[in-house]
Amino acid sequence: MPAPHRIAVLVGSLRKASLNRKVAVSMQALAPPSLQMEFVEIGDLPNYNEDLEAEAPAPWARFREAVRPVDGVLFFTPEYNRSVPGVLKNAIDVGSRPYGKSVWSKKPAAIISVSPGAIGGMGANFALRQSMVFLDMPLMQQPEAYIGGAGKLFDDSGQLVSDDTRKFFTNVMTSYAAWVARLVDA
Ligand code: FNR
Repeated sequence: MPAPHRIAVLVGSLRKASLNRKVAVSMQALAPPSLQMEFVEIGDLPNYNEDLEAEAPAPWARFREAVRPVDGVLFFTPEYNRSVPGVLKNAIDVGSRPYGKSVWSKKPAAIISVSPGAIGGMGANFALRQSMVFLDMPLMQQPEAYIGGAGKLFDDSGQLVSDDTRKFFTNVMTSYAAWVARLVDA
């Protein structure tokens, strides 16, 4: 069997009980063996400030070196005021610099937005897509993943309560694995 594709997983919520993290963990468990998903933490990254590039903060260097070697990136994002939480945007900005050394370029990506609300974080999902265009990240288009009503998806032990949700999560991961293979193995 060929080596699995390494996929960085970024979660745009720092909450311990984050629904986005629960969905990410759940999708990781349902992913095909061709994907090796690695959570890359973003909560310790100092706010982006170009003045700091002369001596980049250690967490920036750690983050850039964690993302640079992977084959693809999965973004799990909450919606804050119809857009992307600052902490996730900051991580994207940190990874995009210094100019010409972006860790994102050409990496196949997918966005999964998760919200207890009915619209499933669609505003955040599309706001993130806007950055992906400039970052030159080929984005999986289908299936779209706007996970609404997320407060009701899990039981107390963090397991999915519905087979339909399990099927949809499996479909997202299988489709993403095919998207990565198409771009990376070509
Ligand atoms: C929210 N929330 C929210 N939800 C939504 O569907 N659309 C929105 O625009 C917002 N705006 C918003 C702003 C701020 C500052 C907070 C703290 C929250 C609610 C949000 O979806 C909810 O807190 C989720 O549980 C956040 O995701 P995690 O932390 O569970 O992964």
